[in-house]
Amino acid sequence: MASTPPFDIVFFGGTGDLALRKLMPALYQAHKYGALDPDGRIFALGRKALSIEDYLDLLLQWVKQALGDDYDEPSWASFTSRLQFHKLEANNADDYKALASVLNAPSDRVTVCYLATAPDLFTTICGHLADVGLNHSNVRLVLEKPLGHDLTSSNAINEAVGHCFTENQIYRIDHYLGKESVQNLMAIRFGNTLFEPLWRREWIDNIQITIAEELGVEERGEFYDRTGALRDMLQSHLLQLLCIVAMEPPASLSEDAVRDEKLKVLKSLKPFSTEDVLTRTVRGQYRNGAINGAPVVAYREEKHVAHDSNTETFVALQAELANWRWAGVPFFLRTGKRLQERVAEIVINFRDVPHALFPMPLGLHSANRLVIRLQPQESVRLYFLAKEPGDAMNLQSTYLNMDFHTTFKARWADAYERLLLDVIRGRLALFMRRDEQAQAWTWVEPILECWSNYAASPKTYTAGSWGPAASSALLSRAGFLWHEET
Ligand code: BG6
Repeated sequence: MASTPPFDIVFFGGTGDLALRKLMPALYQAHKYGALDPDGRIFALGRKALSIEDYLDLLLQWVKQALGDDYDEPSWASFTSRLQFHKLEANNADDYKALASVLNAPSDRVTVCYLATAPDLFTTICGHLADVGLNHSNVRLVLEKPLGHDLTSSNAINEAVGHCFTENQIYRIDHYLGKESVQNLMAIRFGNTLFEPLWRREWIDNIQITIAEELGVEERGEFYDRTGALRDMLQSHLLQLLCIVAMEPPASLSEDAVRDEKLKVLKSLKPFSTEDVLTRTVRGQYRNGAINGAPVVAYREEKHVAHDSNTETFVALQAELANWRWAGVPFFLRTGKRLQERVAEIVINFRDVPHALFPMPLGLHSANRLVIRLQPQESVRLYFLAKEPGDAMNLQSTYLNMDFHTTFKARWADAYERLLLDVIRGRLALFMRRDEQAQAWTWVEPILECWSNYAASPKTYTAGSWGPAASSALLSRAGFLWHEET
């Protein structure tokens, strides 16, 4: 893998869950596999004054846990020589002066400031960075989601950040766009003639996008209770996946060509009326149950969660795009915590044949479906009917399978690793532009408003199930079933 240019990467929130669990392990991997410039330096910032030894002790536990067998001591030792830890209070101007003096970047050195903090600190941090000159043209700013908690707060942050950095310095990250199988979805759609003619309302019956997690809210109860599944997952990850599935072929893979097409999809999403919210969305919250046989507590008993919380840990909804390609095709989106298994997939259900020549297997619909699995194991499966051997003309559902790990032997970077490398290399295509993000908020706002106006509690579901019964009912009312593969 080609190495990056020389860089300094600075993590605000360096002792937080995201930095420890995802970002640092991703950089360690990039280092181990030779993707980082030898001069690249990594700065973790935190509120507490930790010695570098203490920080490395803390980090090591997380890296080992995240990487298992992929961890090794020699590469850890060389990785740690890149690392520094500095104390920084987000609103202390002197701390930024001290930071600027250690960074003191020569003009050819890329400086990445990664804000892995609560979004309400973004404006303050950016203002201070600008005050000490850390917004020069070689500085890139990475903003974690969710950016704000509604359209107004997101606009306010973007506005304030926009005073300090130009739009092409800002990398709004959605790590789902860095997943290998999401990239592959673009390749499948636009690199083959096979699918594109069928990729439209005439041939597609419905589309389902699921991101199911076994995990609960872990140590993030406080953040999560303010946020909920709609803001945490649907407004960002699920809508971004929807964009890649539904967008028109871009003229090129340049950042704006791709982002323009994604924006058009977001603009085509039919706005939800109150009636739509009440009939086409389901919000759920887990009660106690079991995950892989082990008992787990109810959401309301999680650490830092209010005992009478109405925050949703599950959301399912039926969306529709008002454009020529997709009019009338339902897009079913769902995501939740403490579900039966960890799986993320996109399912394209094609229409049934117009005339049934053969007796159909009982209850079988959508004989043709394309299932793009993002995790846990990336694969692409194309389902179709074939005749069972024998005298009778009995048809059976079967599939062609492309399992990434069997087909491709080379190692590939995980989503955060890939996106961090993209930032250092200055590639914006897999990051959200400001207008995309505003449009996503615009679309989810009526749902948020209606949920807060109608005081009904979320429907509960047992931890370890597939969510509230209302989620299956949402599909069955429209004549469909969620695709659940064994
Ligand atoms: C994050 C959410 O963006 O995505 C988390 O904040 C969620 O709540 C995570 O657990 C899921 O990511 P992945 O890649 O593990 O599916």
